[in-house]
Amino acid sequence: MCGIFGYTGSRQDAPEMIFKGLKGLEYRGYDSWGIAVKNGEKLAIERKVGKMTGGISLPKSNLGIGHTRWATHGGVTTENAHPHLDCAKEIAVLHNGIIENFQDLKSELLKKGHKFRSETDTEVVPHLIEDFVKKEGFVDSVKDAFNLLKGLNAIVVVDTKSSSIVAAKNGSPLVVGVGDNEYFIASDVVGILPYTRDVIFLKDNEMVSLGKTISLFSLPMGEKQNPVVEKISWNIEQAEKGKFDHFMIKEIFDQPTIIRNIAQNYSDQVEDLREVIDNAKGTFFIGAGTAYHACLAGVYLFSKIAKKHVNTAPASEFNYLEDFLTKESLIIALSQSGETIDVIEPLTRAAKKGSLIVSIVNSLGSTIYRMGNYKMLLGAGPEKAVASTKAYTAKLAILFMLSFAMVDKLSGARSLLLMAAEEIERILKKENLVTLKELAKKLSKKEHIYTIGRGVSFSLALEGALKIKEVSYVHTEGLAGGELKHGPIALIEKGTPCIVFAPKDDTYDAIISNAAEIKARGGIIVGVSSEKSPVFDYFIEVKDSNLTSIITQSVPIQVLAYYMALEKGYDPDKPRNLAKSVTVK
Ligand code: F6R
Repeated sequence: MCGIFGYTGSRQDAPEMIFKGLKGLEYRGYDSWGIAVKNGEKLAIERKVGKMTGGISLPKSNLGIGHTRWATHGGVTTENAHPHLDCAKEIAVLHNGIIENFQDLKSELLKKGHKFRSETDTEVVPHLIEDFVKKEGFVDSVKDAFNLLKGLNAIVVVDTKSSSIVAAKNGSPLVVGVGDNEYFIASDVVGILPYTRDVIFLKDNEMVSLGKTISLFSLPMGEKQNPVVEKISWNIEQAEKGKFDHFMIKEIFDQPTIIRNIAQNYSDQVEDLREVIDNAKGTFFIGAGTAYHACLAGVYLFSKIAKKHVNTAPASEFNYLEDFLTKESLIIALSQSGETIDVIEPLTRAAKKGSLIVSIVNSLGSTIYRMGNYKMLLGAGPEKAVASTKAYTAKLAILFMLSFAMVDKLSGARSLLLMAAEEIERILKKENLVTLKELAKKLSKKEHIYTIGRGVSFSLALEGALKIKEVSYVHTEGLAGGELKHGPIALIEKGTPCIVFAPKDDTYDAIISNAAEIKARGGIIVGVSSEKSPVFDYFIEVKDSNLTSIITQSVPIQVLAYYMALEKGYDPDKPRNLAKSVTVK
């Protein structure tokens, strides 16, 4: 959620690097930001509310840390923006997470005479460290202070006396970049990519000290560990917009390449998973938001193709459903970031019960990735727009391959996916984009939109509605076509638009009947299909390629959502109130 970037080394432009590093993490969502750098024996600090426009006016320095804040404790004010300082202004702290016992800690510190300048839970940390450094070294002080914090937290601390950065975590992600006699620390590899692809993913209950050298410790005791350096395969170009105006549209255009890669290179990986699924007694797909919609599609794909029953629930609900899990259960977790707390929580509980976990995630080294007994990467490259597009279709493509692998039909899956990639390229041709833009203009004036589908397209109706509502803020509701008559049809009035997903499969006739019912009540029908029906007022053509229409039909709706956001003057990459990676409950 919040972004973190820190640097220690010999470069003297740490303020500018940190500013740039934080800009690279802007996509995670924030409402204020701040940077602290070493300036002689003290810290120089700049904090601001709002977006990171302009530049930074801090003195030259080779050591510092910065943070983009998404407010939890305390309003959006300069005083509440991180970093937070101790009384002597020699120690600065950044923090992600929630310190559950901060009130108790704060009362103790106030009694000891510490002066607080903010309403945040974070500010207890520099004051705690300030107390500890009176009797021990900086690294031990950070360790002892961190051990006092309750809740899931990550802290990054800079100290002027030792000229070092120490970071510890038991929750939110932190990754160290290893350069040439220099170190970076960030909440996300994307921040580090411009400088190095050698990284160390900090595990929960680990602490790292970065100065002239690097030292890794386990918590709570502080035993020394050997850091494991991993190489990131992503490159910096993948994390940039290139010729596109926004990340969202760039990522929509990335999809054919990603799907081709999955079709051509994932056979061995999905074959390996086949055995794991075959041996399990009870398989559950879990994910949040868009990832949950992919899970739901997976349930239909497994039923239709693999003739196998799997179950799903939104990850945030799975906590309340998992009493029946056993050692033989299998949980397949889908996640782009690999850091979604709503997914991590039920996985932690399932692991305690001895259930097996398969992680299918986009971010190497992320918490969910590491939690998997079996792991697979989505291979979608960095996804920076808050609204997930390419990670969604990558998940679908993998589930598609997996369901075909279950019945030894992988080669069929491969050629269908290659056809789907081609169809997406056709959908994204200029003339089709113009048509979608025109439609977006009309739909963006509406107050309510409905999306319907049946079978596997029901999940697409949910996902299409989510995409439109989250970036255009037009209320859009996804429904199973058959559910309309059980209540929601009461909402249809003259001019209400309804997007109808109508692939030419066994749902076609029934969904067209549902469309007719809506039209009879004055609704306007936008049909997404390979075949034009007289019931459609607007037609978005998507050629059928068996069940891959779940992938191809999602693309014009992503584009539609994008243009609707633009039409309404919103930034499609950073929808209000949303963050890219949801690391708090
Ligand atoms: C919607 C969206 C979210 C995420 C959800 C899970 O466009 O992006 O609904 O899908 O927050 O995130 P990950 O996949 O990172 O676990």
